[in-house]
Amino acid sequence: MADEAQKQLRAYVEYFRDLGVYDFYRRGEPGTLAWPAAEVAAVEEPVFAAPVAAAGPAPVASEPRKIVAAPVLVESVGVGLAGKLVSFDDLAPRPESRIAPEHRAAALKAIQDEIGDCTRCPLAYAGRRKIVFADGDPAARLMFVGEGPGADEDETGVPFVGKAGQLLNNMIQAMGLKREEVYIANIVKCRPPANRVPEPVEANTCSQFLLRQIDVVQPQVIVALGATAATYLLGVKQSLASLRGSWHSCRGAKLAVTYHPAFLLRDPRQKGEAWKDLQRVMAELGLKAPAKG
Ligand code: URA
Repeated sequence: MADEAQKQLRAYVEYFRDLGVYDFYRRGEPGTLAWPAAEVAAVEEPVFAAPVAAAGPAPVASEPRKIVAAPVLVESVGVGLAGKLVSFDDLAPRPESRIAPEHRAAALKAIQDEIGDCTRCPLAYAGRRKIVFADGDPAARLMFVGEGPGADEDETGVPFVGKAGQLLNNMIQAMGLKREEVYIANIVKCRPPANRVPEPVEANTCSQFLLRQIDVVQPQVIVALGATAATYLLGVKQSLASLRGSWHSCRGAKLAVTYHPAFLLRDPRQKGEAWKDLQRVMAELGLKAPAKG
């Protein structure tokens, strides 16, 4: 698209976003026409009878007519309702069959192709360079979900390659695994400007793809890294403290919540706590920490 047209489109997107109008980013089932009472503006307007000849009697007001606001299009599906939290389990039914491990790479590629050069949410117009799909083994038993790409990921198109990524690599290694043996993805696939937390409309719009990635990979365990991942995967807004330490479920996988590596870089004293979380995951997967050498 020409530069000028793109700038203009971005200006419109930002303008509507400031107004809180997100609806045209939504995708999904065709909406239903709702006609909520609140939307009906009962404006009383006198309506005059048909014009009469100049010499005739003065026009007489007929019954007042109700003018109603245009109906609003409301989606029938949970996906994309800005601000509404829905767990991944409640977003869509789980597939009835598993994709064979040898077909999972192709299935993931099909999802990536469908995403294309995505413009479904405002992040497409917020300076994104690369869409960060995922990294790792399409048949992994363990999946990590972070928040969204940072500058390094935006540059390379690969999740968790910056400083937080190096710490995540170390965490994976300490669990006795290689990075290539796990699957790594994020709640949103495009970098939020200045690394801000993704807006609900961005997370909800992107969720449909992460959900399908999870359904293809079908990991045994998912680790939600930080509050944003936990919030959207589980559909609850609770403190990390209250979510850590117990098993949750997500798309047939057991889900554990732990600190985001970026948080651990800021507060390394919490690494011991995160290690406890990862040890529970290791026990579940029958993994042993490698001997120190
Ligand atoms: N932080 C995230 O949540 N995801 C990344 O990919 C990188 C940093």
